Amino acid sequence: MLILSVESSCDETAVAVTRNGREVLADEIYSQADMHALYGGVVPEIASRNHVAVISNLADLALRNAGISRKEIDAVAVTFAPGLIGAVLVGVNFAKGLALSLGVPLIPVHHIRGHIAANYIAFPELEPPFLALIVSGGNSIIADVRGYTDMRVLGRSRDDAAGECFDKAARVLGLPYPGGKPMDDLSRGGDDTAFDLPRAKIEGRPYDMSFSGLKTAVVNIVHNARQRGAELDRAGLAASFAAAVSDTLVPRTLAAADELGYEKLVIAGGVAANSRIRRDFEMAAERTGRQLFVPPLRLCGDNGAMIGCQGYYEYLAGARAGMDLNAYATMDIDNVAY
Ligand code: KG4
Repeated sequence: MLILSVESSCDETAVAVTRNGREVLADEIYSQADMHALYGGVVPEIASRNHVAVISNLADLALRNAGISRKEIDAVAVTFAPGLIGAVLVGVNFAKGLALSLGVPLIPVHHIRGHIAANYIAFPELEPPFLALIVSGGNSIIADVRGYTDMRVLGRSRDDAAGECFDKAARVLGLPYPGGKPMDDLSRGGDDTAFDLPRAKIEGRPYDMSFSGLKTAVVNIVHNARQRGAELDRAGLAASFAAAVSDTLVPRTLAAADELGYEKLVIAGGVAANSRIRRDFEMAAERTGRQLFVPPLRLCGDNGAMIGCQGYYEYLAGARAGMDLNAYATMDIDNVAY
């Protein structure tokens, strides 16, 4: 089954062609990150306009690179939630038009489910059930993935997402947007004990997380140093910050896997690219005899292939959208409705 998939939930326009879920024939991504870097973060209106400008050509490019014609497409899959509403709408409307004109089914895909599916592409042997941690710019979620379309949220961030926190910390340190990678680079060689940063716990909710106190702590440290004219150990701060985020994510994920008796751990989303977090997960998996699945860097961020892959499993489970499909800014992965 050939699926053309569309992703436009934030500042990446992406179109892919996949066969039977896991085989990627083309995966085209147009990133607007440089443009948004001018403003220090994603400007929703600019993101929407750029999606409109490139999406059609990107689809043509994906078909060309996949070596197939429009007529061969069996279905169109699209991210319909969650994301920047105007941005998601561009992809949804494009996908609707394409599905209608080709007379093929339209498959609605939840963006975060797509991030999990990036692992199915990277690891052909991987099948649910497993424990998943999804950490991106907008979400931090620990989930019990019982089946391809059957999942339950065990914990989530009560405030900022981990990626958002990396981006804010980077911004106050004068690093470019998106800040996760520059923070990662800065932290290399830094002393991860240089600063004593908070690791918040939420009473009675062992798998929930909170990153806003950590963010504020970093902002205060940088401002204090600036006001005193003191030299700041930037590498030490970046390394201490990464350690604090990792100390929040890794033990919770391991504890949830323990409670549910899962041997397979799956990490997904842009923050899964972080070297400290990857290393800590590798060590924890080895220590506890667990199998760890972390996608290659290219599949960690937003891409169209992951939407095509999840779209295939949604299709098998019977998901079909009509021409009245809407876009949604927020939606839980275990309560998908369209
Ligand atoms: O999954 P993603 O591409 O987009 C969303 O769906 O949100 O994640 C983007 C986030 C950004 O906050 C970015 O700063 C962060 O992932 N990120 C990283 C790294 N690379 C990207 N965070 C920490 N370390 C990295 N190496």
